[in-house]
Parts: sequence; C-alpha cells; structure tokens
Amino acid sequence: MATPIDFNDRMLSLGLARVSEAAALASAKLIGRGDEKAADQAAVDAMRTQLNMLDIDGVVVIGEGERDEAPMLYIGEEVGTGTGPAVDIALDPLEGTTLTAKDMPNALAVIAMGPRGSMLHAPDVYMEKLAIGPGYETGVVTLDMTPAERVQAMAAAKGCSNEDITVCILERPRHEELIAAVRETGAAIRLITDGDVAGVIHCAEWEKTGIDLYMGSGGAPEGVLAAAALKCMGGQIFGKLLFRNDDERGRAEKAGITDFDRIYSRDELVTQDVIFAATGVTDGSLVSGIKREVGFLTTETILMRSKTGSVRRMTYRNPTL
Ligand code: FBP
Repeated sequence: MATPIDFNDRMLSLGLARVSEAAALASAKLIGRGDEKAADQAAVDAMRTQLNMLDIDGVVVIGEGERDEAPMLYIGEEVGTGTGPAVDIALDPLEGTTLTAKDMPNALAVIAMGPRGSMLHAPDVYMEKLAIGPGYETGVVTLDMTPAERVQAMAAAKGCSNEDITVCILERPRHEELIAAVRETGAAIRLITDGDVAGVIHCAEWEKTGIDLYMGSGGAPEGVLAAAALKCMGGQIFGKLLFRNDDERGRAEKAGITDFDRIYSRDELVTQDVIFAATGVTDGSLVSGIKREVGFLTTETILMRSKTGSVRRMTYRNPTL
C-alpha cells in the first residue's frame, strides 16, 4: 500500500488563496447586475477549474448541494489532480449571491481545506448558531442559554453593561422573537440581510467590527465554513442542526449524522487543523471587495492556517487584457 502523503498546509495555502481569488474575479462582472444565478455560476466554474489544478486528492464535503441537484462542486465530488494528500474541502464559491447581485457589503468567495475526515459533513439544512470571538473561557455562552442569558454572560465576561454589547443577527421573519429578546436586554443589534459566514467572523475582529456575539439560524454548510475560520482566528462557535421535515432528516442520515439533537462545538465541526481563504467580492469589514481600473481587477484575500494561527491579507492585481 502506498504511504499516505501528509497534508502540507503551508505549501497548499497559497494554492487555496488562488482558488478563492479566481472565484471572486469571475463574479466581478456580475456585481450589481441583479442576477444571483449567473454570479454564482461564474464563481463555481472558476473555483472548480482552479481547484482541479491543485496537487491534492480532494473530496468536496461542503459544496453546492447533493450530486443530483448540483452539476459542479457537489458533495462528494473528487477534485484536484489526485496526486497529492487526501483532503476534505468545504467551499462556497459565492457566499452572498444576493449581496453580489445587489452590490451590497460582505459577499465573499470562501474555501477551507483540511485532512480527510476533518470537517463535519453538514447537510444543506439550517443550523442554529452562536459565536463569540477569542479570549473568553470555553462555554461562557452556550446554545442552551436563552438569548438574554447569553447577552448577560457576555457582558459579565467583558466587564461591561448589556448596553455595551452588540449582537449580529440575520434579518429574517424567523428571528423576530430572538431580536425582541435581545432588544429587551438593552444590547444593540447589527442586522445583516445575508452572509452569516462574515457575520460569525466579525466576532473574531471585535475591535474592527464592534460585534460581540453572533446568534440565529442560517445554512449549516456556512456554519462549518465559519467554524474553520474561527479555528484559525480564535473564538467559539456552537451549532445545532435544525430539521423542518423528514427529507432534511434523511439528508443528515445520508451524511452519516445519527444524533439529531447534538450541539457541535467549533472543534467538533472542524476536528483537525485546516487552512481557510476568503476573497472579497463586495466591500466588507473582513476584506475589501474587487476594485476595477482600466486593464486590471484587484482583489483582497484573507488566508489563514489554524496550526500556526497565521493570518495573511493579500492583494492581487490581475491583468484583464
Ligand atoms: P447564498 O449565498 O447561498 O445566497 O447564502 C446567503 C445566506 O445569507 C447565508 O450566509 C446564510 O447562511 C443563508 O443564506 C441563510 O439562509 P436563508 O436566506 O434561507 O435565511
């Protein structure tokens, strides 16, 4: 039997940045054009082409959907040249399709990579999420607490009042009660219309974003991607899968999930060291969006490794002629 090739995260990281850059660049011409589908398709095509150039034996574990509903980058698709280390890939070529179509902030091209078996195979269902940044004791806030208890616990841990806490929440009718409960505590709420990967990551950069907590439900795949980011930057995330019907439970079973009530911590969502890259499509607090000048497009990418906690911000000026 051939000896397995080590996951050389250091060497692979630049390749990963190229993958997210390519996806973001491809969607550039569709920013603000009102066509979510076209923007997503452009990003998917470009990400797949770039990914297939990497010397990895990769499998998409978080992707564009199940095989029968996504022609490309579907869950289980093998990617890479097949000659490198066996890796798991979590990706979202365009996180924030509507944000891109409407030219609103925080649309990203996102990808994470780790050794085979390092990431939860989360089905495409909702996940209840709770996240905070680094520097707090594990479990200072938990999903078992009420929203008000979480705000109070966070204020106590920070040594401030509830009024000094800001919570980021996706603006959705399903979050009306959550929003009311947080408002009741006196905390401020930053409502976002989409893009909860960025929403969670904002907690890890409190000095820049002012966001202390992320709460609410969003896509489970985005939860795994956000956990990969926090594993690199520090911070805690808890996630619980939410099922609306038997079809969704069936999807989870197919992905190997047996305990439907389990609350996953960050290191259960992502169990080994990973690398993470996100390139800005539209401007955001994590990275700048794509900038145009005659003959060039410029991107900004954040590239991180959990093994070392290294965080790089890279600018790429891409000739378009
Ligand atoms: P897309 O890029 O696939 O449109 O996802 C955007 C997003 O806002 C995610 O960040 C979030 O997890 C999910 O949609 C929330 O789902 P819903 O719009 O159904 O509330």
